[in-house]
Amino acid sequence: MQLRDLGFSKSTYSEIILTIRHGDAVNVAPMGVLLEDDKRLSLRVYKEQRTCELIEKGAVDCVLNITCNSTLFYDAVLNKSEISYCPSETVSSPRVRGCDAYVECLIIHVKDCGEYVRVLLKPQLIKVSRRMAKAHNRAEPAVIEALVCFTKILHLIKSNVEMAEGLKERIKIFREIVYHSTRSKKLRMMMTEILDRAEEVIREKKAIDKH
Ligand SMILES: Cc1cc2nc3c(=O)[nH]c(=O)nc-3n(C[C@H](O)[C@H](O)[C@H](O)COP(=O)(O)O)c2cc1C
Repeated sequence: MQLRDLGFSKSTYSEIILTIRHGDAVNVAPMGVLLEDDKRLSLRVYKEQRTCELIEKGAVDCVLNITCNSTLFYDAVLNKSEISYCPSETVSSPRVRGCDAYVECLIIHVKDCGEYVRVLLKPQLIKVSRRMAKAHNRAEPAVIEALVCFTKILHLIKSNVEMAEGLKERIKIFREIVYHSTRSKKLRMMMTEILDRAEEVIREKKAIDKH
């Protein structure tokens, strides 16, 4: 099993649930992961979070818990005490019970980038517990959601410009998500185009109403 088979990519962040241990302290939080090359992955961990604190204190390993289960993502942010752990095979950080796959990693380099730290990981073990495991990424679903908003604008522009404006604002948020979570030029271009087209439709309608 290769990292790419699990959905990891060099251009688009894959969303996983990260578990990390330092001494007695264990933390869990969703994180975006990028493939650096065939053997290494990287994280961008923002400061003033518990995960970052443990990394800065000297945590030596972590686990990428791969799942599409939104309840596990929710619990990892808002309900951490509900998360159930089980031991890893090669690292001290535990696994989150019930995930589709696990990548146990050593932390091999930490770079301070101001607002965040960039963390380089070397996978030690890839364990797939279910077939078809794929790590979630935020970019592709955001593009689809933006298209849903755009086609809704096309439908209601004649009757409700205010609602169309609201949907356009949502597209801006989805575009931010895409720009933040992928380096893919194609996905970014698609989002810019969707927003441009939405703005054009609204501008034209307003011009007609003025006359
Ligand atoms: C899908 C998803 C992806 C996330 N990716 C990152 C990330 O790449 N880096 C980061 O610093 N925070 C990321 N976050 C935010 C952290 O998970 C969130 O701030 C969390 O509450 C931090 O927990 P902690 O303070 O226990 O470390 C992400 C959140 C979600 C829901």
